[in-house]
Amino acid sequence: MKPIQVGLLGIGTVGSGTFHVLQRNQEEIRRRAGRGIEIAMVADLDTTRAKQIVGDAAKVVGDAREVIANPEIDVVVELIGGYGIAKALVLEAIAAGKHVVTANKALLAVHGTEIFKAAAEKGVMVAYEAAVAGGIPIIKALREGLTANSIQWVAGIINGTTNFILSEMRDKGLDFDVVLKEAQRLGYAEADPTFDIEGVDAAHKATLMSAIAFGIPVQFDKAYVEGITKLTSTDIKYAEQLGYRIKLLGITKRTDKGVELRVHPSLVPTKRLIANVEGAMNAVVVHGDAVGTTLYYGKGAGSEPTASAVIADLVDIARMDGSDPAHRVPALAFQANTLAAAGNELPVLPMADVVTSYYLRIRVADEAGVLAKITTLLANAGISIDAVIQREADEVGGEGSNQTDLIILTHDTREGDMDKALAEIQGLPTVLAPITRIRKEELN
Ligand code: HSE
Repeated sequence: MKPIQVGLLGIGTVGSGTFHVLQRNQEEIRRRAGRGIEIAMVADLDTTRAKQIVGDAAKVVGDAREVIANPEIDVVVELIGGYGIAKALVLEAIAAGKHVVTANKALLAVHGTEIFKAAAEKGVMVAYEAAVAGGIPIIKALREGLTANSIQWVAGIINGTTNFILSEMRDKGLDFDVVLKEAQRLGYAEADPTFDIEGVDAAHKATLMSAIAFGIPVQFDKAYVEGITKLTSTDIKYAEQLGYRIKLLGITKRTDKGVELRVHPSLVPTKRLIANVEGAMNAVVVHGDAVGTTLYYGKGAGSEPTASAVIADLVDIARMDGSDPAHRVPALAFQANTLAAAGNELPVLPMADVVTSYYLRIRVADEAGVLAKITTLLANAGISIDAVIQREADEVGGEGSNQTDLIILTHDTREGDMDKALAEIQGLPTVLAPITRIRKEELN
């Protein structure tokens, strides 16, 4: 069978990894796919660099539209990123009847509904394994391996940059700003790391996993997004003393009322495997009603790990090219005509309706009755306390200090009730600083 012809849009880190791995493993990949996979064209603004990477093996052009216009190209691999030109090119490639492989989580999380609809109308595939957790085959696992299950929840460390920063803060007792600079120096964090540290990148990935897990449309606009910029090494240390690690988790959960979709720092019991995922590694835990809890771990970024996911998609497409679209695995795991209705039955819940437990650190005047007032306000809001610890005043404020930190762990409660109670507690004259509130996930 004729090798499938691939055009790469962008040959940076992931594109060059894709080219090298396809070359190195071409014989084994051909045996798996049943036909060869050839990168025939590469478009990149830096044509000199692109030519250095591919040599004579592929035609290099500066204009991505030349790739899309070439009738010989069967699959377009979009590795440009972002919502701008990448969106236009993906839609043009689909309109030209090309299958598309993309690592672009931002694009699919925000414009996925439009893109998948266009692809369905044209009878082409849009594959995106590389968009979530890099080399970990989590899309395949959720969409195919766990297809028997009613999935209950998914929780993942799906941003390596922030996990690296949190690991360093814990290991070295350093503050966020110091570690961020180090991460940039080492090349882990982008020069503009906003999407990573503010949780946006993780929310794009969680949005995609939510859609596949529950058969609902992609709804990034309804995700709750909170990053790690306000975390202190003090809270990381206290959490550690209480038997928890703080991780930036992307969480999506099915409840009676709808779907939770949220990204925020979370205390996770140290005894959970996912709490021990350190550095830039990623991990995703999926709980299905039949299978129970499963864990997927690996590199969430990098040249060849991400190329591994891109090529897996290319192999799927090479096998299914020319097949009846009705016989293919649906792009979002569920048949497209069922998504909207499921989205209405399972709306994404506002954060006020999310139920979780909390770590609170409250800086108070170290005097009689302070703790009683706080616990009374929590009790009035129906919030049950799991544990209370008071730090030594000297440890918190230095010798002779009359301030101290109260650390309170709560049982599950509605976020809206917690917001109300915290506003009241914050108003007490004996509460001396903004309260730190970090959500806690037992993941059991
Ligand atoms: N910036 C991402 C991360 C990698 O730090 O995990 C690509 O998704």
